[in-house]
Amino acid sequence: PGPADLLGLADYAARAADRLRPAVRDFIDGGAGEERTLAANLAAFDRVRLQPRVLSGAGRPDTTVHLLGGTWSLPLGVAPTAYHTLAHPDGEVATARACAAADVPFVVSTFAGRTLEDIAAAADAPLWLQVYCFRDRTTTRRLVERAQRAGYEALVLTADAPRLGRRHRDLRNGFRLPAGVAPANLPADAYDAPGEHALAAFDPALDWSVVEWLRSVSNLPVLVKGVLTAADARRATEAGAHGIVVSNHGGRQLDGVPATLEVLPEIAAAVPGTCPVLLDGGVRRGTDVLAALALGADAVLLGRPVLHGLAVGAESGVRHVLGLLGEELREAMTLTGTPTVADAGPDLVRPTTTPPG
Ligand code: FNR
Repeated sequence: PGPADLLGLADYAARAADRLRPAVRDFIDGGAGEERTLAANLAAFDRVRLQPRVLSGAGRPDTTVHLLGGTWSLPLGVAPTAYHTLAHPDGEVATARACAAADVPFVVSTFAGRTLEDIAAAADAPLWLQVYCFRDRTTTRRLVERAQRAGYEALVLTADAPRLGRRHRDLRNGFRLPAGVAPANLPADAYDAPGEHALAAFDPALDWSVVEWLRSVSNLPVLVKGVLTAADARRATEAGAHGIVVSNHGGRQLDGVPATLEVLPEIAAAVPGTCPVLLDGGVRRGTDVLAALALGADAVLLGRPVLHGLAVGAESGVRHVLGLLGEELREAMTLTGTPTVADAGPDLVRPTTTPPG
Protein backbone atom coordinates (compact mmCIF):
# COMPACT_ATOMS: atom_id res chain seq x y z
CA PRO A 1 0.00 0.00 0.00
CA GLY A 2 1.31 3.43 -0.95
CA PRO A 3 1.37 5.67 2.09
CA ALA A 4 0.67 8.68 -0.17
CA ASP A 5 -3.01 7.86 -0.53
CA LEU A 6 -3.46 5.83 2.66
CA LEU A 7 -2.89 8.49 5.28
CA GLY A 8 -5.34 7.40 7.94
CA LEU A 9 -7.63 4.55 8.92
CA ALA A 10 -10.54 6.18 7.07
CA ASP A 11 -8.56 5.76 3.82
CA TYR A 12 -8.23 2.06 4.61
CA ALA A 13 -11.96 1.74 5.26
CA ALA A 14 -12.75 3.35 1.90
CA ARG A 15 -10.19 1.29 -0.01
CA ALA A 16 -11.38 -1.93 1.63
CA ALA A 17 -15.00 -1.11 0.74
CA ASP A 18 -13.94 -0.86 -2.93
CA ARG A 19 -12.13 -4.17 -2.82
CA LEU A 20 -14.50 -6.43 -0.91
CA ARG A 21 -17.61 -8.08 -2.30
CA PRO A 22 -20.58 -5.96 -1.13
CA ALA A 23 -22.03 -8.68 1.12
CA VAL A 24 -18.66 -9.25 2.80
CA ARG A 25 -18.14 -5.50 3.21
CA ASP A 26 -21.59 -5.27 4.81
CA PHE A 27 -20.86 -8.19 7.18
CA ILE A 28 -17.68 -6.43 8.32
CA ASP A 29 -18.84 -2.82 8.41
CA GLY A 30 -22.45 -3.29 9.47
CA GLY A 31 -24.15 -3.27 12.85
CA ALA A 32 -27.41 -4.38 14.43
CA GLY A 33 -30.82 -2.82 13.82
CA GLU A 34 -30.72 0.76 12.57
CA GLU A 35 -27.03 0.98 13.44
CA ARG A 36 -27.56 3.75 16.00
CA THR A 37 -25.03 2.28 18.43
CA LEU A 38 -22.57 1.73 15.58
CA ALA A 39 -22.88 5.44 14.70
CA ALA A 40 -22.75 6.48 18.38
CA ASN A 41 -19.36 4.81 18.89
CA LEU A 42 -17.86 7.01 16.17
CA ALA A 43 -19.82 10.14 17.14
CA ALA A 44 -18.59 9.93 20.75
CA PHE A 45 -14.98 10.19 19.56
CA ASP A 46 -15.90 12.91 17.03
CA ARG A 47 -17.25 15.08 19.87
CA VAL A 48 -14.01 14.98 21.89
CA ARG A 49 -11.91 18.14 22.00
CA LEU A 50 -8.43 17.76 23.47
CA GLN A 51 -6.85 20.36 25.72
CA PRO A 52 -3.12 20.60 24.98
CA ARG A 53 -0.52 21.50 27.59
CA VAL A 54 2.04 23.62 25.72
CA LEU A 55 5.70 24.07 26.66
CA SER A 56 5.40 21.10 28.96
CA GLY A 57 8.98 19.95 28.43
CA ALA A 58 7.61 16.49 27.73
CA GLY A 59 10.04 15.56 24.95
CA ARG A 60 9.53 12.38 22.97
CA PRO A 61 6.52 10.47 24.24
CA ASP A 62 6.77 6.94 25.62
CA THR A 63 3.83 4.81 24.46
CA THR A 64 4.83 1.70 26.42
CA VAL A 65 2.13 0.07 28.51
CA HIS A 66 2.30 -2.63 31.20
CA LEU A 67 -0.77 -4.82 31.49
CA LEU A 68 -1.62 -8.28 32.83
CA GLY A 69 2.04 -9.02 33.43
CA GLY A 70 3.05 -8.05 29.89
CA THR A 71 4.67 -5.01 28.30
CA TRP A 72 3.52 -3.74 24.89
CA SER A 73 4.89 -0.97 22.72
CA LEU A 74 1.51 0.69 22.29
CA PRO A 75 -1.65 0.89 24.42
CA LEU A 76 -3.62 -1.00 21.80
CA GLY A 77 -4.36 -4.47 20.57
CA VAL A 78 -6.43 -6.27 17.95
CA ALA A 79 -10.04 -7.05 18.94
CA PRO A 80 -11.42 -10.51 18.27
CA THR A 81 -13.25 -10.57 14.94
CA ALA A 82 -14.48 -13.69 13.19
CA TYR A 83 -12.93 -15.04 9.98
CA HIS A 84 -10.00 -12.83 9.05
CA THR A 85 -9.93 -15.16 6.02
CA LEU A 86 -12.97 -13.24 4.71
CA ALA A 87 -10.75 -10.19 4.24
CA HIS A 88 -7.66 -12.06 2.99
CA PRO A 89 -6.87 -15.77 2.55
CA ASP A 90 -3.88 -15.52 4.93
CA GLY A 91 -6.34 -14.46 7.60
CA GLU A 92 -5.23 -14.56 11.23
CA VAL A 93 -1.72 -15.71 10.32
CA ALA A 94 -1.12 -12.36 8.59
CA THR A 95 -2.68 -10.46 11.48
CA ALA A 96 -0.49 -12.26 14.01
CA ARG A 97 2.67 -11.36 12.05
CA ALA A 98 1.61 -7.70 11.90
CA CYS A 99 0.92 -7.72 15.65
CA ALA A 100 4.34 -9.21 16.31
CA ALA A 101 5.95 -6.44 14.25
CA ALA A 102 4.02 -3.76 16.16
CA ASP A 103 4.51 -5.56 19.50
CA VAL A 104 0.82 -5.52 20.40
CA PRO A 105 -1.49 -8.36 21.48
CA PHE A 106 -3.92 -10.11 19.17
CA VAL A 107 -7.19 -11.46 20.55
CA VAL A 108 -8.05 -14.44 18.35
CA SER A 109 -11.77 -15.11 17.86
CA THR A 110 -13.46 -18.43 18.63
CA PHE A 111 -14.53 -18.08 14.97
CA ALA A 112 -11.01 -17.63 13.60
CA GLY A 113 -10.55 -18.85 10.05
CA ARG A 114 -7.10 -20.32 10.79
CA THR A 115 -6.18 -22.80 13.51
CA LEU A 116 -4.98 -21.58 16.90
CA GLU A 117 -1.78 -23.57 16.37
CA ASP A 118 -1.04 -22.11 12.90
CA ILE A 119 -1.55 -18.61 14.25
CA ALA A 120 0.79 -19.27 17.18
CA ALA A 121 3.44 -20.79 14.90
CA ALA A 122 3.33 -17.81 12.51
CA ALA A 123 4.68 -15.18 14.86
CA ASP A 124 5.51 -14.49 18.46
CA ALA A 125 2.90 -11.81 19.05
CA PRO A 126 1.17 -11.99 22.44
CA LEU A 127 -1.96 -14.04 21.66
CA TRP A 128 -5.16 -14.12 23.67
CA LEU A 129 -8.17 -16.35 22.97
CA GLN A 130 -11.68 -14.90 22.77
CA VAL A 131 -14.15 -17.41 24.20
CA TYR A 132 -17.75 -17.95 23.26
CA CYS A 133 -19.37 -20.46 25.59
CA PHE A 134 -21.22 -23.27 23.86
CA ARG A 135 -24.00 -25.26 25.48
CA ASP A 136 -21.63 -28.17 25.23
CA ARG A 137 -18.97 -27.04 27.68
CA THR A 138 -16.58 -29.71 26.39
CA THR A 139 -16.25 -27.82 23.09
CA THR A 140 -15.30 -24.67 25.00
CA ARG A 141 -12.96 -26.50 27.37
CA ARG A 142 -11.10 -28.17 24.48
CA LEU A 143 -10.61 -24.80 22.79
CA VAL A 144 -9.21 -23.28 25.98
CA GLU A 145 -6.88 -26.25 26.54
CA ARG A 146 -5.57 -26.02 22.98
CA ALA A 147 -4.94 -22.29 23.38
CA GLN A 148 -3.07 -22.79 26.63
CA ARG A 149 -0.93 -25.53 25.07
CA ALA A 150 -0.12 -23.25 22.11
CA GLY A 151 1.08 -20.47 24.44
CA TYR A 152 -1.90 -18.12 24.45
CA GLU A 153 -1.64 -15.74 27.38
CA ALA A 154 -5.19 -14.75 28.33
CA LEU A 155 -8.86 -15.57 27.79
CA VAL A 156 -11.41 -12.95 26.77
CA LEU A 157 -14.94 -14.10 27.56
CA THR A 158 -17.47 -12.39 25.32
CA ALA A 159 -20.46 -11.71 27.54
CA ASP A 160 -22.69 -9.67 25.24
CA ALA A 161 -23.68 -12.38 22.77
CA PRO A 162 -26.01 -15.01 24.32
CA ARG A 163 -27.57 -14.77 20.85
CA LEU A 164 -26.52 -13.01 17.68
CA GLY A 165 -27.76 -9.44 17.13
CA ARG A 166 -30.16 -8.80 14.25
CA ARG A 167 -27.97 -7.41 11.53
CA HIS A 168 -30.22 -6.00 8.86
CA ARG A 169 -27.55 -5.80 6.17
CA ASP A 170 -26.75 -9.51 6.54
CA LEU A 171 -30.43 -10.46 6.60
CA ARG A 172 -31.10 -8.43 3.44
CA ASN A 173 -28.06 -9.87 1.70
CA GLY A 174 -28.87 -13.40 2.84
CA PHE A 175 -25.21 -13.40 3.90
CA ARG A 176 -23.45 -16.75 3.84
CA LEU A 177 -19.78 -17.49 4.28
CA PRO A 178 -18.04 -17.98 0.94
CA ALA A 179 -16.51 -21.35 0.13
CA GLY A 180 -13.21 -21.78 1.93
CA VAL A 181 -14.17 -19.58 4.89
CA ALA A 182 -15.18 -21.49 8.01
CA PRO A 183 -14.44 -21.59 11.74
CA ALA A 184 -11.17 -23.55 11.71
CA ASN A 185 -11.20 -24.39 15.42
CA LEU A 186 -14.68 -25.75 15.96
CA PRO A 187 -16.06 -29.24 15.44
CA ALA A 188 -18.66 -29.33 12.64
CA ASP A 189 -21.50 -29.89 15.10
CA ALA A 190 -20.75 -26.74 17.10
CA TYR A 191 -22.39 -24.53 14.51
CA ASP A 192 -25.53 -24.84 12.44
CA ALA A 193 -24.57 -25.49 8.85
CA PRO A 194 -21.69 -24.82 6.50
CA GLY A 195 -21.77 -21.23 5.27
CA GLU A 196 -23.76 -19.97 8.22
CA HIS A 197 -22.24 -17.76 10.86
CA ALA A 198 -24.79 -19.28 13.14
CA LEU A 199 -24.75 -19.89 16.78
CA ALA A 200 -27.58 -22.18 17.76
CA ALA A 201 -25.04 -23.92 19.96
CA PHE A 202 -24.38 -20.81 22.07
CA ASP A 203 -25.38 -21.11 25.69
CA PRO A 204 -28.05 -18.41 26.15
CA ALA A 205 -28.28 -19.00 29.92
CA LEU A 206 -24.70 -18.14 30.94
CA ASP A 207 -24.26 -16.39 34.27
CA TRP A 208 -21.34 -15.00 36.25
CA SER A 209 -20.33 -18.47 37.47
CA VAL A 210 -18.79 -19.03 34.02
CA VAL A 211 -15.85 -16.82 35.06
CA GLU A 212 -14.97 -19.19 37.87
CA TRP A 213 -15.44 -22.15 35.52
CA LEU A 214 -13.05 -20.62 32.98
CA ARG A 215 -10.54 -20.01 35.75
CA SER A 216 -10.86 -23.68 36.73
CA VAL A 217 -10.13 -25.07 33.25
CA SER A 218 -6.91 -23.11 32.70
CA ASN A 219 -4.52 -20.92 34.63
CA LEU A 220 -4.83 -18.00 32.20
CA PRO A 221 -6.20 -14.62 33.27
CA VAL A 222 -9.83 -14.05 32.26
CA LEU A 223 -11.14 -10.75 30.88
CA VAL A 224 -14.86 -10.12 30.46
CA LYS A 225 -15.75 -8.36 27.20
CA GLY A 226 -19.03 -6.56 26.66
CA VAL A 227 -19.40 -4.65 29.93
CA LEU A 228 -21.40 -1.41 29.59
CA THR A 229 -22.36 -0.48 33.16
CA ALA A 230 -20.50 0.24 36.39
CA ALA A 231 -22.59 -2.39 38.19
CA ASP A 232 -21.57 -5.14 35.76
CA ALA A 233 -17.94 -4.03 35.93
CA ARG A 234 -18.10 -4.52 39.72
CA ARG A 235 -19.82 -7.89 39.30
CA ALA A 236 -17.10 -8.96 36.88
CA THR A 237 -14.34 -8.24 39.37
CA GLU A 238 -16.31 -9.90 42.17
CA ALA A 239 -16.77 -12.94 39.93
CA GLY A 240 -13.00 -13.22 39.61
CA ALA A 241 -12.30 -11.49 36.29
CA HIS A 242 -8.76 -10.17 35.88
CA GLY A 243 -9.85 -7.38 33.57
CA ILE A 244 -12.77 -6.00 31.59
CA VAL A 245 -13.35 -4.83 28.05
CA VAL A 246 -15.87 -2.01 27.75
CA SER A 247 -17.55 -2.99 24.49
CA ASN A 248 -20.86 -3.05 22.66
CA HIS A 249 -19.49 -5.51 20.10
CA GLY A 250 -18.91 -2.70 17.63
CA GLY A 251 -22.67 -1.95 17.57
CA ARG A 252 -23.41 -5.45 16.29
CA GLN A 253 -25.47 -6.79 19.21
CA LEU A 254 -28.23 -4.62 20.78
CA ASP A 255 -28.88 -1.43 18.82
CA GLY A 256 -29.64 1.29 21.34
CA VAL A 257 -26.97 0.63 23.96
CA PRO A 258 -24.56 3.52 24.60
CA ALA A 259 -21.33 4.35 22.88
CA THR A 260 -18.42 2.79 24.75
CA LEU A 261 -16.58 6.10 25.26
CA GLU A 262 -19.74 7.52 26.85
CA VAL A 263 -19.83 4.94 29.66
CA LEU A 264 -16.07 4.54 30.08
CA PRO A 265 -15.55 7.14 32.86
CA GLU A 266 -18.19 5.68 35.19
CA ILE A 267 -16.94 2.15 34.60
CA ALA A 268 -13.28 3.04 35.15
CA ALA A 269 -14.29 4.74 38.40
CA ALA A 270 -16.18 1.64 39.58
CA VAL A 271 -13.41 -0.95 39.42
CA PRO A 272 -10.25 -1.16 41.55
CA GLY A 273 -7.24 0.57 39.99
CA THR A 274 -5.55 -2.83 39.74
CA CYS A 275 -8.20 -4.11 37.29
CA PRO A 276 -7.25 -3.36 33.69
CA VAL A 277 -9.98 -1.61 31.72
CA LEU A 278 -9.85 -1.98 27.95
CA LEU A 279 -12.24 -0.36 25.48
CA ASP A 280 -13.24 -1.10 21.91
CA GLY A 281 -15.68 0.41 19.42
CA GLY A 282 -15.00 3.25 17.01
CA VAL A 283 -11.29 3.82 17.66
CA ARG A 284 -10.03 5.18 14.34
CA ARG A 285 -7.32 7.77 15.12
CA GLY A 286 -4.42 8.39 17.47
CA THR A 287 -6.45 11.12 19.16
CA ASP A 288 -9.21 8.54 19.81
CA VAL A 289 -6.69 6.31 21.59
CA LEU A 290 -5.52 9.26 23.66
CA ALA A 291 -9.10 10.28 24.52
CA ALA A 292 -9.90 6.74 25.69
CA LEU A 293 -6.75 6.69 27.86
CA ALA A 294 -7.65 10.10 29.27
CA LEU A 295 -11.16 8.95 30.20
CA GLY A 296 -10.03 5.82 32.03
CA ALA A 297 -8.96 3.07 29.61
CA ASP A 298 -5.62 1.30 30.05
CA ALA A 299 -5.63 0.28 26.39
CA VAL A 300 -7.96 0.02 23.41
CA LEU A 301 -8.74 -2.73 20.91
CA LEU A 302 -9.26 -2.27 17.17
CA GLY A 303 -11.84 -4.30 15.27
CA ARG A 304 -12.83 -3.30 11.75
CA PRO A 305 -9.70 -1.28 10.85
CA VAL A 306 -7.63 -4.47 11.08
CA LEU A 307 -9.95 -6.24 8.63
CA HIS A 308 -9.71 -3.21 6.32
CA GLY A 309 -5.91 -3.44 6.48
CA LEU A 310 -6.06 -7.15 5.63
CA ALA A 311 -8.39 -6.53 2.70
CA VAL A 312 -6.16 -3.80 1.30
CA GLY A 313 -2.74 -5.34 1.83
CA ALA A 314 -2.67 -8.60 3.84
CA GLU A 315 0.06 -8.57 6.51
CA SER A 316 1.61 -5.31 5.30
CA GLY A 317 -1.82 -3.65 5.29
CA VAL A 318 -2.34 -4.52 8.96
CA ARG A 319 1.22 -3.46 9.77
CA HIS A 320 0.53 -0.10 8.17
CA VAL A 321 -2.81 0.32 10.00
CA LEU A 322 -1.14 -0.38 13.36
CA GLY A 323 1.85 1.77 12.40
CA LEU A 324 -0.33 4.72 11.40
CA LEU A 325 -2.27 4.56 14.66
CA GLY A 326 0.95 4.37 16.67
CA GLU A 327 2.41 7.34 14.81
CA GLU A 328 -0.79 9.35 15.25
CA LEU A 329 -0.76 8.53 18.97
CA ARG A 330 2.85 9.73 19.32
CA GLU A 331 1.90 12.92 17.47
CA ALA A 332 -1.12 13.47 19.74
CA MET A 333 0.95 12.84 22.89
CA THR A 334 3.67 15.22 21.73
CA LEU A 335 1.23 17.98 20.78
CA THR A 336 -0.77 17.68 24.00
CA GLY A 337 2.32 17.52 26.22
CA THR A 338 1.64 13.96 27.41
CA PRO A 339 4.98 12.24 28.09
CA THR A 340 3.69 8.77 28.97
CA VAL A 341 0.49 6.77 28.68
CA ALA A 342 0.03 7.04 32.44
CA ASP A 343 0.02 10.85 32.17
CA ALA A 344 -3.20 10.86 30.12
CA GLY A 345 -5.93 12.03 32.50
CA PRO A 346 -9.36 13.65 32.30
CA ASP A 347 -7.84 17.14 32.10
CA LEU A 348 -6.80 16.28 28.53
CA VAL A 349 -10.43 16.26 27.38
CA ARG A 350 -12.54 19.42 27.39
CA PRO A 351 -15.42 18.66 29.79
CA THR A 352 -18.16 20.38 27.79
CA THR A 353 -17.43 18.15 24.81
CA THR A 354 -17.20 14.97 26.85
CA PRO A 355 -20.06 12.74 25.81
CA PRO A 356 -22.96 12.99 28.27
CA GLY A 357 -22.42 10.44 31.03
C1 FNR B 1 -16.70 -8.67 15.67
N1 FNR B 1 -16.66 -8.72 17.07
C2 FNR B 1 -16.49 -9.95 17.67
N2 FNR B 1 -16.35 -10.02 19.03
C3 FNR B 1 -16.14 -11.20 19.64
O1 FNR B 1 -16.01 -11.23 20.86
N3 FNR B 1 -16.05 -12.35 18.91
C4 FNR B 1 -16.17 -12.37 17.56
O2 FNR B 1 -16.07 -13.42 16.92
C5 FNR B 1 -16.44 -11.14 16.90
N4 FNR B 1 -16.59 -11.08 15.55
C6 FNR B 1 -16.67 -9.88 14.92
C7 FNR B 1 -16.70 -9.85 13.52
C8 FNR B 1 -16.69 -8.62 12.86
C9 FNR B 1 -16.68 -8.60 11.36
C10 FNR B 1 -16.68 -7.41 13.60
C11 FNR B 1 -16.65 -6.07 12.91
C12 FNR B 1 -16.70 -7.44 14.98
C13 FNR B 1 -16.65 -7.48 17.87
C14 FNR B 1 -15.22 -6.95 18.06
O3 FNR B 1 -14.50 -7.75 18.95
C15 FNR B 1 -15.19 -5.53 18.64
O4 FNR B 1 -15.97 -5.48 19.80
C16 FNR B 1 -15.64 -4.45 17.67
O5 FNR B 1 -15.32 -4.78 16.34
C17 FNR B 1 -14.96 -3.15 18.05
O6 FNR B 1 -15.44 -2.11 17.31
P1 FNR B 1 -14.70 -1.49 15.99
O7 FNR B 1 -13.25 -1.26 16.31
O8 FNR B 1 -14.93 -2.48 14.91
O9 FNR B 1 -15.47 -0.23 15.80
